[in-house]
Amino acid sequence: MKNSDIFEKDQEYIVHTYHRFPIAVKNGHGAQAEDFEGKRYIDFGSGIGTNSLGFCNDEWVQAVVSQIKQLQHTSNLFYTLPNSLLAERLCKITGYSKVFFENSGAEANEGAIKLARKYGMELKGKQCNRMITLENSFHGRTITTLSATGQDIFHQSFFPFTEGFCYVPANNSRALYEAVDDTVCAVMIELVQGESGVNVLEKEYVKDIEKVCREKDILLIVDEVQTGIGRTGTFLCSEQYGICPNVVTLAKGLGAGLPIGAVLMDKLTENIFQPGEHGSTIGGNPVACAGAVEVLN
Ligand SMILES: Cc1ncc(COP(=O)(O)O)c(C=O)c1O
Repeated sequence: MKNSDIFEKDQEYIVHTYHRFPIAVKNGHGAQAEDFEGKRYIDFGSGIGTNSLGFCNDEWVQAVVSQIKQLQHTSNLFYTLPNSLLAERLCKITGYSKVFFENSGAEANEGAIKLARKYGMELKGKQCNRMITLENSFHGRTITTLSATGQDIFHQSFFPFTEGFCYVPANNSRALYEAVDDTVCAVMIELVQGESGVNVLEKEYVKDIEKVCREKDILLIVDEVQTGIGRTGTFLCSEQYGICPNVVTLAKGLGAGLPIGAVLMDKLTENIFQPGEHGSTIGGNPVACAGAVEVLN
């Protein structure tokens, strides 16, 4: 098989939503990968922040393979060991109280958005359902997370979008204060915006966001889908800002290449979802969780 055989099949059968580079990756180990013609590459992309252990890390492969031979999936109506182990490890490492497992970053953010709306409704009434996000942010590609994303380029098709999002410029505390009112249930931010460049939020500004959220009983949600799992030097990037968001979303590096997302909740938010209000068929499946435990190891 040559690289070009794969390019041709892809062209013919796969929907063209990606501008792919002309490389068909066959295998990899550590930071190195090889294409179908034996050409070797050093990987600086990490699968867009996902291969947190590089390609095919030995311990991770062993954990995943041993789990998949034992139990690959059961419904979330039953308990599994990897699921509960991962939850315990995540909570102990981060100090959060509880976690809900999803399949991706967008899903984790959807979960956080649902959580925030219910929090607002219960605390201040049905009108308290709006969320503030930042200009140039990125929160995913579902209709609602596209709505949450503060970039016009993502709002050109697919109407109607989910209502209730308002975008403010980053690093401008005054704009934030002006946007806050009784209809706002949450502020959701990335600490380093990654889709629109590499825009690092200023520490003072992030502290201001946390302060206004605390004063007004508004949830602070930090989307750490890209910055989490040690990617910026600490397990969560929010540690470096000295803030304690109510909710943190994770994905990408947690799975090291298998699909998983997580919504971390603090004491204030851990009991908002009641049985039947949120769920996922495969979210938190034992194989992805067993691999993720190895990532945390
Ligand atoms: C900050 C952030 N949030 C959410 C997402 C969406 O994650 P996923 O592609 O896993 O749905 C991304 C993806 O790049 C992201 O960078």
